[in-house]
Amino acid sequence: MSNQDGTVVIVGGTKGLGRRLAERFAADGREVVITGRDQEQANAIAAEIGHGARAVALDLSNPHEIGARLEGLDHVDHVVLAAIERDTNTLRDYDVTRAIRLATIKLVGYTEVLHALHPALHDASSVLLFGGLAKERPYPGSTTVTTVNGAVDTMIRTFALELAPVRVNALHPGIVGDSPYWEDNQQMLANVVARTPTGRTVTMDEVTDAALFLLRNGAVNGVNLYVDGGWVFG
Ligand SMILES: NC(=O)c1ccc[n+]([C@@H]2O[C@H](COP(=O)([O-])OP(=O)(O)OC[C@H]3O[C@@H](n4cnc5c(N)ncnc54)[C@H](OP(=O)(O)O)[C@@H]3O)[C@@H](O)[C@H]2O)c1
Repeated sequence: MSNQDGTVVIVGGTKGLGRRLAERFAADGREVVITGRDQEQANAIAAEIGHGARAVALDLSNPHEIGARLEGLDHVDHVVLAAIERDTNTLRDYDVTRAIRLATIKLVGYTEVLHALHPALHDASSVLLFGGLAKERPYPGSTTVTTVNGAVDTMIRTFALELAPVRVNALHPGIVGDSPYWEDNQQMLANVVARTPTGRTVTMDEVTDAALFLLRNGAVNGVNLYVDGGWVFG
């Protein structure tokens, strides 16, 4: 099978960057399956995306249930792992429950999705994990986000070895100024712009273009790509 006629699975495809990517694939005529935590809400969003997009409900913080939720998916060309439930966590005021939840979602949940789906992948399939530059540029309260996004750096290497010849890459956006999560935090955006050589934050469309490149280019494997306008060295 080529990587043009199977399914695209986007975990965390109901919102933000995952949804934007789902819209791009669906508009291209690809068979798209998105996930969110609530089946009804995810169905409604799949209907808005249109072009036959479907929805599956799963909660990555319950990794034991992931396999059953993804049963029946076959001929998967691309898996995108974009889900996140951010916590605001500091060492001085550490919320262990929230930290365990986010660590479970990104570290165990992302891994379990690939464990569940690996029989559905084929030689030309590809996988994309979303990390984020909180791993290099922490902000107050980013302790757990920084930790899990740092782990994505190395997760892709073991996944790429174990799933070979399936390719596995990671995309680490800077702060995506037009993404829903940041719309109420103009102070954070101003701080990032001040330290970014391009003089602005990155956009959802720029991140989506980079995601499509990583998923489609058959030679790119085990790469951690920064899409940040140079924020990381600014
Ligand atoms: N936005 C940015 O500026 C930025 C910057 C750097 C990195 N990133 C990374 O890019 C990725 C996407 O970020 P985003 O801001 O676009 O996300 P978002 O808008 O906050 O959307 C989060 C997605 O994750 C799903 N989700 C939340 N909790 C979940 C759980 N427990 N189990 C399964 N799914 C769950 C949500 O679905 P439901 O609510 O429907 O359940 C939603 O589809 C994340 O990995 C993030 O770390 C984003």
